[in-house]
Amino acid sequence: MTPRVFSGIQPTGNLHLGNYLGAIKRFVELQGEMECVYCVVDMHAITMPFEPAELDRNIREVTAAFLAAGIDPKAHIVFNQSQVKEHAELAWIFNCIARMGWLRRMTQFKEKAGKRAEEASVGVFAYPSLMAADILAYRATHVPVGEDQKQHLELTRDIAAKFNHDFSARISELGLGEDMEMGDETVRGYFPLTEPIIGGPAARVMSLRDGTKKMSKSDPSDLSRIVMTDDSDAIAKKFKKAKSDAEVLPETVEGLEGRPEADNLVGIYAALADTDRAAVLAEFGGQGFGAFKPALIELAVEKLAPINREMRKLMDDPAHIDAVLADGSQRARAIAEPILADVKAIVGFVGARG
Ligand code: AMP
Ligand code: TRP
Repeated sequence: MTPRVFSGIQPTGNLHLGNYLGAIKRFVELQGEMECVYCVVDMHAITMPFEPAELDRNIREVTAAFLAAGIDPKAHIVFNQSQVKEHAELAWIFNCIARMGWLRRMTQFKEKAGKRAEEASVGVFAYPSLMAADILAYRATHVPVGEDQKQHLELTRDIAAKFNHDFSARISELGLGEDMEMGDETVRGYFPLTEPIIGGPAARVMSLRDGTKKMSKSDPSDLSRIVMTDDSDAIAKKFKKAKSDAEVLPETVEGLEGRPEADNLVGIYAALADTDRAAVLAEFGGQGFGAFKPALIELAVEKLAPINREMRKLMDDPAHIDAVLADGSQRARAIAEPILADVKAIVGFVGARG
């Protein structure tokens, strides 16, 4: 299977440092290795309550963040999900492959639906099967994401494996797909079992106000997160106010155990500096936050301010952003269309390939 990277970000506002370090920065780095397809998943963004006028602004903001961070929309593909109808088509087919029990186990569904699951949209429940469709409409082999998406990627593999298994004979008959090792049998499969790319020092960036909670778009406190549109003053202020503890930094990574705020700030520093926690502690071990925080602020401003400036510039030219998305959508469609034609033929729909 051709190696290909796919990933997506929801245009739900408040794009933050966790999104940047856990996802977007890694999207940028993968461009040298494989063909990359990066998607603003606007259809996922309507699974929860939303405002249309904010949605279009947020779609442009995520696109601007991609470009400002260094994703090259000419060498790779940047687009929004709703412009490529194959995502919705494949999601429907996957809704008929995935089992109720699989989706009911998703922790993100449980968190989002909460105690009022009966009032949640059907879209929130079916969310992971649309996500699997995003990835597999391109037969993507690699998906960079933050830690919180691990379970959704396992489900994507389960859907791909069940599809391959259920339709194996038909896939061979049509001369499609390739032989794959599945456990101890070889199956003629159409979809790859996509590898997640999760890791690095910032796979799970925590709230600046509470080191035991994930940094999130929906935290009511603005001080809990650095957002990608924060200017240098805001970045400095939020790190100054970030919760820490009274001890000096340890010399080794083990010493961060039980110190979630220290662990988080050291992890953020490591990700921004392209190194790991051990190297940061080799430099700052034995020093207190009075010394560490100013260094962190200086580094964060150095790395984030240029992205922030470029994002603002791009946001002032929405026509340019829209043109990037239109062009990317057209090129995304060119990949997804023939794949959907194959899938429909495999399923047995008449007229799929004509
Ligand atoms: P979302 O905003 O939910 O669409 O997330 C976009 C990407 O950012 C996904 O790959 C997430 O896993 C990642 N992400 C979200 N929050 C964090 C966080 N606090 N730390 C690291 N990665 C995150
Ligand atoms: N569910 C992902 C998130 O909340 C967003 C997403 C949608 C995604 N489709 C995807 C991520 C496909 C990777 C690949 O962050």
